Amino acid sequence: MTDNNTNINKYTITRYPKTNNQSLQAWSAADEYLLKEFDSLSLEKTKMTIFNDRFGFLTCHLHQFFPTIILNYKSQEKAIFQNLESNDLKFSDLNFTTPLEALPEQLDVAILRVPKSLDLFRMQLFQLSKSLDERGIVLASFMTKYFSPQILSIANEFFEKVEQSKAWKKSRVLILKNKKREKDISILHSIVFQNSIYQQYFGVFSAKNIDYASQFFIQHLKLKEGDQRVLDLASGNGVLSKAVQLQSPNCEIHLMDDSFLAIESSKLNLNPKNVFFHFSDSMEMFKDNFFDLVISNPPFHFEHETNIEVAVRLFHEVKRCLKNGGRFELVASRHLNFKTHLIKIFKEVNVVSENNKFIIYECF
Ligand SMILES: C[S@@+](CC[C@H](N)C(=O)[O-])C[C@H]1O[C@@H](n2cnc3c(N)ncnc32)[C@H](O)[C@@H]1O
Repeated sequence: MTDNNTNINKYTITRYPKTNNQSLQAWSAADEYLLKEFDSLSLEKTKMTIFNDRFGFLTCHLHQFFPTIILNYKSQEKAIFQNLESNDLKFSDLNFTTPLEALPEQLDVAILRVPKSLDLFRMQLFQLSKSLDERGIVLASFMTKYFSPQILSIANEFFEKVEQSKAWKKSRVLILKNKKREKDISILHSIVFQNSIYQQYFGVFSAKNIDYASQFFIQHLKLKEGDQRVLDLASGNGVLSKAVQLQSPNCEIHLMDDSFLAIESSKLNLNPKNVFFHFSDSMEMFKDNFFDLVISNPPFHFEHETNIEVAVRLFHEVKRCLKNGGRFELVASRHLNFKTHLIKIFKEVNVVSENNKFIIYECF
């Protein structure tokens, strides 16, 4: 790329959380291509918003335009703040919002990495169709290997003009112009499971049905008398907590998830009595020896990346926060082979139940 306002060599961007996997990077060609396309618009001043900037590459390089940044993950927020700080860029110049807040009015440009969840993409274009100026433009990029025709049909739902750039370093940018007349869409899915209705915002894990691993876990979940304080780690829409609440209505339940939309969804699905919600990617706010029981269907990928390092780090945190005599129960796909990691952390690891796809472990 030529040396211009958004020169990609201007800032050093690192990942949070750190990874030992050298092949995982803090940005991709799809991010670089967005800057290249933005530069070709030759705008000096513009009212801009940025979506799905995982580690802060776009935020840092477009900082001079004082963009509004939509944050959906606590880990994303930490990564962006870390990179702004290490590059001596001021946070106070920027406006940070959650995915459920109204966007600023009359936006000129939206810069967007197409997320893995195309429902979330749809929700974001819907929100933009309300807030963009009539002449506003959306630049949305993706790596070509993740292309699906649905990306175009969603774009066509909200914009008259949908142009595709040429492929560059195996990525593409969509240029969306002339927003269509506002239409209303629901941004919530409803899932029926065991006579209850679960609601979840677009973009939250397992949109079409309750995850099969979680269903298997719920079949075998048996609370014991001493299970007074329970943590649902990586809680998603809260379905595991709901199973706890149905078995033991008086116990104290904590839900923790890295995703803002997941935590907000779980608030729709649980009776709030004795329930605490934590939008967090780490257990640092919990004291040592705090929980009788921790249950989890732990994460093993983020967007298109598969990575169990986050889960293994959380297992160490669980160990610290479990009471003496407390236990950790988790469900996982067999192929992840979590046992090799769990036995290094816990004194005892047993298999509670298994089928051809999933295993439930109990750790002390
Ligand atoms: C496999 S899903 C399970 C969701 C839910 N418990 C269920 O059974 O449907 C894993 C969840 O982990 C969350 N997650 C990813 N990284 C996390 C982290 N560092 N801390 C907490 N939650 C995290 C994701 O947002 C996702 O909701």
